[in-house]
Amino acid sequence: MAADNTGNGKDFVTLVDHSTGNSHDLPLMGGTTGPKVIDVRKLYAETGHFTYDPGFTSTGSCESEITYIDGDAGILLHRGYRIEDLAEHCSFLEVCYLLLRGELPKPDEKREFEQTITYHTMVHEQLMNFYRGFRRDAHPMAIMVGVVGALSSFYHDSTDINDPHQRMIASHRLIAKMPTIASMAYKYSVGQPFIYPRNDLSYAEDFLHMTFSVPPEEYKISPTVARAMDRIFILHADHEQNASTSTVRIAGSSGANPFACIAAGISCLWGPAHGGANEAVLNMLNEIGHKDNIPKFLAKAKDKEDPFRLMGFGHRVYKNVDPRAKVLKKSADEVLAELGVDDPLLELAQELERIAREDEYFIERKLFPNVDFYSGIILKAIGFPTSMFTVLFALARTVGWVAQWNEMITDPSQRIGRPRQLYTGHTERSYVPIDQR
Ligand code: SDX
Repeated sequence: MAADNTGNGKDFVTLVDHSTGNSHDLPLMGGTTGPKVIDVRKLYAETGHFTYDPGFTSTGSCESEITYIDGDAGILLHRGYRIEDLAEHCSFLEVCYLLLRGELPKPDEKREFEQTITYHTMVHEQLMNFYRGFRRDAHPMAIMVGVVGALSSFYHDSTDINDPHQRMIASHRLIAKMPTIASMAYKYSVGQPFIYPRNDLSYAEDFLHMTFSVPPEEYKISPTVARAMDRIFILHADHEQNASTSTVRIAGSSGANPFACIAAGISCLWGPAHGGANEAVLNMLNEIGHKDNIPKFLAKAKDKEDPFRLMGFGHRVYKNVDPRAKVLKKSADEVLAELGVDDPLLELAQELERIAREDEYFIERKLFPNVDFYSGIILKAIGFPTSMFTVLFALARTVGWVAQWNEMITDPSQRIGRPRQLYTGHTERSYVPIDQR
């Protein structure tokens, strides 16, 4: 994996420092597609200056071969394949294989990977004790952070990050056990007994079984619902260097074990500006209540004095419709029709999107629906409470996190992540004893 530094000898930019009159040539690095990057690794040594980029809007943190987003065109590629094609033709475990290994699996590779994941779905029986330490009304994301972090105390044999075999085992364990852990978080919140995984079910079917079956009665799995669940997992699998993936990478850069890194990613994803937005969208739609109230809420979203934002709208990278939102919008119609669910919130969401996309404020800022805008409508129709929506996002994103974590560890140019700052506090001053303050 090496960025193309060759070219016609013009692959550099010249920085003229007018404060000193010096000029500095900085290498321009190109990838296989997308914007080039200015290599500033020697900037401080040569100029004594740092770059300054709160929120990292113009900063590349790493080289990666996993996911590429063209925000202006609304294109999302995983290892070069369009998300629309993967969502249409693949299973989630095929996409997991693609993200981890770099290629879509051949039939025998697919079968072997599915079996490997299937045979890692059980969790240590003592892990159940962790749940009983939480209040029954604990947010399931709080449980996920705690329980996933605790996995490192059960799986010592896959915490040596320098051993490729142990990294692979840990990656498989995390992908396989997240549905079990997530379903247990739901069961605990509703006071029902945990349901063990079944090896005869697919990944999505097994998750639905563990979540909605009860000892007296198995959950009847609708093929349409299972396919929709699997597709939702695909659409949430990975997304370049988003906040939670960057959190996992920086945690991993210190040498922390994979379970601790994924727990850090879950914590970051919980925020309403990130993965917590799918839960916030449903809460927002319920608060809007009726399409007659849409203008009032759009006015709030545009009011700089009002912290309210239109949840499920806008994106740091997409300045066009999020391609995942397009697939989810179509899937919402299909799933609700199949389930015979007539949810007025779907119609309200569609009307909200229509009005917002005709509004100058949203047009000027290129604010479009993102992955979180329609996902909750489908999850609600399947039967999940809104508090579980971000848990499902974390379940699906685990494969992206572990793929990016593995890539970071094997990248020779990666070092511990340690940004600098623009200091604006006090310069040195003398200590003042308390009786003189
Ligand atoms: C995810 O990074 C990823 O890839 C994330 C994700 C993934 O798969 O990992 O795609 C998943 O997190 C999707 C985003 C989910 N979050 C939401 O839906 C929450 C609502 N969206 C906003 O909070 C916001 O759009 C962000 C956080 C998503 C993006 O924020 P940015 O890039 O920092 O943009 P910004 O806040 O600088 O906004 C630019 C302008 C501002 O107005 P001005 O100061 O220029 O006048 O747009 C406005 C913002 O006020 N704006 C919004 C808005 N989003 C941006 N105004 C109203 N409602 C919104 N939703």
